[in-house]
Amino acid sequence: MKKLYIQRYTDNQRINHWLVVVLFGLAGFSGLALFHPNLFFLTQFFGGPQWTRIVHPYFGVAVFLMFLLMFVAFVGKNLWRREDTQWLNAAPKLVLHADEAAMPPAHKYNAGQKLVFWSMTVCLLVLLVTGVLFWQAWFASSVPIGLQRVAVVLHALAAFIMSLTAVVHIYAAIWVKGTLRAMTQGNVSAGWAKHHHVLWYRDKMEAARRDVQAERL
Ligand code: HEM
Repeated sequence: MKKLYIQRYTDNQRINHWLVVVLFGLAGFSGLALFHPNLFFLTQFFGGPQWTRIVHPYFGVAVFLMFLLMFVAFVGKNLWRREDTQWLNAAPKLVLHADEAAMPPAHKYNAGQKLVFWSMTVCLLVLLVTGVLFWQAWFASSVPIGLQRVAVVLHALAAFIMSLTAVVHIYAAIWVKGTLRAMTQGNVSAGWAKHHHVLWYRDKMEAARRDVQAERL
């Protein structure tokens, strides 16, 4: 029997996602190059130390702007609902015992995915605001040095949390079989949808049924 696939992302949303990934990688590695002398060797990939310092903030702003597009597209489906708290309470059973049967039904995104989304949003916002405060080429000269010092610490902290969040996100995308194709091909199997996001699956099926009915009229 032919396998049924359901669209999860449009082409534009996937291009947007992978642009964010590439820009986040560039901003992250150029940032690490400036963070500690042991990582100084990374500057060679960005045209040397001066260029690394010049391009890093622009990569950062570009990630933020690209992520903003994703934020607008996905925020509606990432708003917290009462069922998400129940899902989160049951999450240890999933993580420690792989007990998926214990999980409450999820919409398009489960509570774990929503936390990743909000963590990324807050971290990128903090990275942008703090980064601007000590951006020497444009703004830092009019910012008090004490504030710049606080901004540097918060910038590093937000970058650390953002990187941890990205690791969790990538691990989950690989760990949950059949998820990667959502961002590579734009669709998921009906089985995947029913298994992991049954409420979203039902909405999609209902919409498809209505489309067929409308065509028949
Ligand atoms: C190699 C790295 C990455 C891989 C393999 C990956 C993979 C994926 C996959 C498969 C999905 C779809 C999940 C689903 O629909 O259930 C997704 C969604 C998403 N990804 Fe990534 N991703 C990566 C890096 C990143 C990075 C670095 C960011 C942000 C800076 C990011 C932000 C997002 C967001 C916001 C979504 C939409 C999910 C939501 O709205 O909750 N991803 N990613």
